Amino acid sequence: MTSNKTPFYITTAIAYANGAPHLGHAYEAIITDVMARFKRLDGFDTYFLTGMDEHGQKVAQTAEKNGVSPQEFCDDIAQKFIDQTETFNISNDQFIRTTDKDHHKSSQAIWQKLEDNGDIYLDKYAGWYSVRDEAFYDEKEITKDEETGVKLSPHGTEVEWVEEESYFFKLSAYEEKLLTLYKENPEFIAPQSKHNEITSFVKGGLRDLSISRTTFDWGVKVPNDPKHVMYVWLDALTNYITALGYPDTESEKFKKFWPANYHVVGKDIIRFHCVYWPAFLMAANIELPKQVFAHGFINVDGQKMSKSIGNVIAPSELVSRYGMDQTRYLLMRTISHGEDGNYNHEQSIVRINADLSNGLGNLVQRTLSMIVKNCDATIPERNDLTDEDQKLLNQAYTAIDTIRPLFEKFQFNRGLEEIWRLVSAANTYVDEQAPWALKKTDTVRMGVVLSVLAETIRCLGILVQPVMPDSASKILDQLKTPKDQREFEHLNVEYALKYGITIDPPQGVFPRLVEEEKAA
Ligand code: MSP
Repeated sequence: MTSNKTPFYITTAIAYANGAPHLGHAYEAIITDVMARFKRLDGFDTYFLTGMDEHGQKVAQTAEKNGVSPQEFCDDIAQKFIDQTETFNISNDQFIRTTDKDHHKSSQAIWQKLEDNGDIYLDKYAGWYSVRDEAFYDEKEITKDEETGVKLSPHGTEVEWVEEESYFFKLSAYEEKLLTLYKENPEFIAPQSKHNEITSFVKGGLRDLSISRTTFDWGVKVPNDPKHVMYVWLDALTNYITALGYPDTESEKFKKFWPANYHVVGKDIIRFHCVYWPAFLMAANIELPKQVFAHGFINVDGQKMSKSIGNVIAPSELVSRYGMDQTRYLLMRTISHGEDGNYNHEQSIVRINADLSNGLGNLVQRTLSMIVKNCDATIPERNDLTDEDQKLLNQAYTAIDTIRPLFEKFQFNRGLEEIWRLVSAANTYVDEQAPWALKKTDTVRMGVVLSVLAETIRCLGILVQPVMPDSASKILDQLKTPKDQREFEHLNVEYALKYGITIDPPQGVFPRLVEEEKAA
């Protein structure tokens, strides 16, 4: 059934296996999930990849500190990330782990391609390395903490001087090609500010990149020289094609889904995705992804999340405070596309109560309970529609046209604002039409009003699915909307709620956070 749909491939960054997931990881997974769900509902054959980056010095060091083998350590952390995908109802098609055998094979194959292309040579590396970032930095990027004398990367992480034999990738040879790529495909890096940042970084000159290490062995072995392991980023980035069967570029999955439509990543790792990754792919003669989308960071009460400040939030904490869909909504509604966001408990309660409990929840609750009480729990006919009825229905059917271009650009906050325009219009309509008053004067007209509202709610239920999949299905289940009629193509009169169907007594979808509100 899906074979004639346009393929769509989206990935998150794969998280380092050096600690439990935090809110930043959940945020990225949710952004990507919302886009994947949106595309599926819009008729695309979607493949969504997420996973775990398990190699490198940092993982090896953390495992050692914990007194376990790196593999055992990774197994434990991977399970926590897999659990997180369940906690947040993330609809990934695959969870890749870079310790998977096929991933080693794929990473070695891409290495071999770079080597065959004449882009790899052996030399000695002497320079600054941050184990925290698993990244090399130029002298000019390094600053010194005046108090401690510690040398720092531009991300504020500690760097150390490293000198060792290393293979190099001729990144400098790709400077012009990369600049041409950015110029000819301005959409390759989004948002625009990141496009500018990367362009000026590359214009500043690229040095060849050290791509192997010899001082530890937790990684993918370099082909024909096993005392070297690959630089963790070379192996990590390759996960995006391993998942599709690389090096078998003729496999069905590879042919169907590569090049990726979106790599969704945090703003701290765009250099790897927008400079190194396309250069590796060019060298290996593989098509380039269409876009790297960089999201911002989540801060807590205006401060960066950090273990030392003690404000790191476990994603499950928010779910137990507000509910899963409520947390998803909150993050997607309050953080602007590509910008940093802030989490604050009091503001979150106000937002959830206003938009979900009072806004959408109340609309569903009062409409459905009036239908149950006054119309025998049966959807009434929608005859003799007035201009007001028609206006609301038109808004419900056409909302997707405004929302689509926003969602397609990860502007979920603006897309949700549009959906809530419809919620407000429906709430205003109930107040103006006052079906409770019509009950005494004109029961036929009351039925029409309730039926128009129920049909609007059906559309709202369909529209909120990418962001709040569980709540949306509760709403659509109560309306008895068939499971195979919940896609965006069903947002029209042809699939409208049938007269005479019996609905279930409404069950509160978004309970008001009263206790939480008092505590706040
Ligand atoms: N392992 C690399 C990615 C390799 S992709 C081939 C890595 N891992 S990470 O665990 O440090 O980060 C995973 C993702 O979470 C990154 O996209 C990163 O930007 C994102 N975030 C980490 N902290 C974050 C916040 N506080 N807020 C939002 N996103 C954050 O980098």
